[in-house]
Amino acid sequence: MKIFKKEDKMSSLVSANSNLLPVINRFGIQLGFKEKTIQDICKEKEVNPDFFLAIVNTYTDENYFPEEELLSFSPLLLIDYLKNTHNYYIGYALPKIERLLENIMANCGENYPSLKMISSFYQKYKTELLLHLKHEDEKEFPYIVELYKTRKLRPGQKSITEYENEHTDVEEKLSDLKNLLIKYVEPGYNHNDMNEFLQALFQFEKDLYDHARIEDAILIKQVSMLENELKPNEVR
Ligand SMILES: [Fe+2]
Ligand SMILES: [Fe+2]
Repeated sequence: MKIFKKEDKMSSLVSANSNLLPVINRFGIQLGFKEKTIQDICKEKEVNPDFFLAIVNTYTDENYFPEEELLSFSPLLLIDYLKNTHNYYIGYALPKIERLLENIMANCGENYPSLKMISSFYQKYKTELLLHLKHEDEKEFPYIVELYKTRKLRPGQKSITEYENEHTDVEEKLSDLKNLLIKYVEPGYNHNDMNEFLQALFQFEKDLYDHARIEDAILIKQVSMLENELKPNEVR
């Protein structure tokens, strides 16, 4: 896959991979790019072009993960981006998945029990994911912002590794849900509705995977390094 550079047209990003659109939107950038380059539009929107490219390229190519470069950006920049992503999940991606599922349920006949199981599995998954996002938004991110602003550890303060909830659980549950559908759903549903639902799950899984990768490999690492730097001052 192509790795994008500042001189590339912003339109070429979307032409190459339309799944990047929601990622681009999280930076406050919307369609109507004309012939402008990534650099031009980032300047207009006051977005750091290097940060923008590091994120966009991470989503473009599974093998591309500029860990060192990402570690060099401020965690506050990362948190802004991650929070926008949470809002996208809560306000759009999950409601969309739910709408598609309701659509399948509304149009199925005697097949109801099998889909009912899938629906209840999805509800459990959603509850768990929402809790995870809430924990990050309300506990973990505010802790990081405060730590970077005050550069002080409070006595008895939990460390970031204690704060961070495992991503494996939510990732595994989503994969189980997909497998449940692919392997065990009973016939009797509307194919087009079901395909649309499954595709939405695949797209969501990919987005969530990259999101968790940025949190685990970048944000948590940055904060742990700062905590270690600050520790000796606390002992004195
Ligand atoms: Fe998150
Ligand atoms: Fe997370």
